[in-house]
Amino acid sequence: MKKNILVVNGPNLNLTGIREPGIYGGELLIDINEMIKKKADELGMEVSFFQGNGEGEIIDALHAAMGDKDGIIINPGAYTHYSIAIRDAICAIGVPAIEVHMSNVYAREAFRHTSVTAPVCKGQISGFGKFGYILALQAFAEDV
Ligand code: DQA
Repeated sequence: MKKNILVVNGPNLNLTGIREPGIYGGELLIDINEMIKKKADELGMEVSFFQGNGEGEIIDALHAAMGDKDGIIINPGAYTHYSIAIRDAICAIGVPAIEVHMSNVYAREAFRHTSVTAPVCKGQISGFGKFGYILALQAFAEDV
């Protein structure tokens, strides 16, 4: 059975490629998702995508993954730094998650150095731009 992975992107990530390209790169989210899909095909994995700007819709997407997905790759955007509700949702669904940040959050403002969600994920990837999503996919492919 093919592994079925959900990629969740949080607030403002729909503007990737347009907002602060010096930090997040110049590629649109739709093109990043296409790259992820291509890699998933190569790895023999199923992948689907969700982007939401609101906390509730992200939580609903996580709930919908319960019993349906084998893994979640999540970039919670700014919610990373304070959303206990998203943290609780990751815990609640019992689906392994990997947190991704395109920028190196530890090289930025102090408020970005805290992640309330990373402790309930398998691990965190930060600072490798769009390739962070590929690294997370490979980790699921290899059962890391
Ligand atoms: C981000 C880092 C967050 O601090 C920020 O709020 C984002 C994007 C990243 O991918 O580097 O929206 O998650």
